[in-house]
Amino acid sequence: MTDRTATDVTVLGLGAMGSALARALVGAGHRTVVWNRTASRAEPLVALGAEAAPDPAAAVAGADVVIVSLVDGEAATAVLTAAGPALAGTTVVELTSLTPREAEAIGELVEGAGAAYVSGSVMVTPPMIGTDGAALLLGGDRAAYDRAADVLRVLAPDLHFVGDAATAALLDMGMLDVFFGAATSFVHGAVLASTGGIEPTEFPAHGESMLQLAVATARELAEELTAESYPGDENSLAMMRRGIDHVVETSEERGIDPSLPLVTARLMRGAVEQGYGHEGYGRIADLLRR
Ligand SMILES: NC(=O)c1ccc[n+]([C@@H]2O[C@H](COP(=O)([O-])OP(=O)(O)OC[C@H]3O[C@@H](n4cnc5c(N)ncnc54)[C@H](OP(=O)(O)O)[C@@H]3O)[C@@H](O)[C@H]2O)c1
Repeated sequence: MTDRTATDVTVLGLGAMGSALARALVGAGHRTVVWNRTASRAEPLVALGAEAAPDPAAAVAGADVVIVSLVDGEAATAVLTAAGPALAGTTVVELTSLTPREAEAIGELVEGAGAAYVSGSVMVTPPMIGTDGAALLLGGDRAAYDRAADVLRVLAPDLHFVGDAATAALLDMGMLDVFFGAATSFVHGAVLASTGGIEPTEFPAHGESMLQLAVATARELAEELTAESYPGDENSLAMMRRGIDHVVETSEERGIDPSLPLVTARLMRGAVEQGYGHEGYGRIADLLRR
């Protein structure tokens, strides 16, 4: 049964993520109002105890916390514009993945309507919402975040408040950059190995050890980037570029698109041509900065 003393929460957007967020809130006893463009997606949540609203303005009216989880910034802007003055007095927690520029623009829209603004990202998949491993990355109005923190902990016990909304979005971009790069490399490696009969099920045992090595190397790289010093005594760019050149060559020989390793090869070659062959991997940062 709903606890009427708990914070009233609205969830705008009931895709895979929004539905998981709303389910966790209902489960924790919050009065939870939901709205989705395709109304039928609210039905399973209403069956659990949520209330469905007919439009965004009706959904947010009187809420303490409004959580937004939509496909992109364009949809979030349209839905929050439709909610309009009904947002006044609420705290909007925008959990749609946004660019820093979008995060700032949506902040202006929300604060212009008289609401407080917190913006960030969900760092886990929908089934992990409400579990111990769930994490949110957040920025924006610190006082509003503090007021909403108990509600947010229902979704994810691990909360990281990192500064303003644009900073939270920028950190999200950096993290997604790492995730997609690693995931694409893993698939590329598995596909390349499969040309020699190595089954995809066999590959993780080998590929995962490289991911672990990358984690250990990341910490060293972070120190080197901070110090702007890239010692290459144990593994120089001149040595390592041969490794990536071999990946490109083998990909071409085996009929696998070499675009991904080619990007890395181009960066390493560029650093060597600029006279940094004796230095370490972090020196490629110079070639990334425009
Ligand atoms: N799924 C994940 O693993 C995951 C993990 C971390 C972060 N996220 C982030 O969570 C957010 C939501 O992801 P999701 O997985 O829930 O996506 P999804 O399942 O594709 O759901 C998209 C949602 O956006 C709504 N929508 C799309 N266009 C709209 C428009 N023009 N106006 C109003 N509503 C619109 C959809 O409504 P309809 O039902 O009417 O189409 C639906 O509610 C994204 O920013 C995503 O990056 C997702």
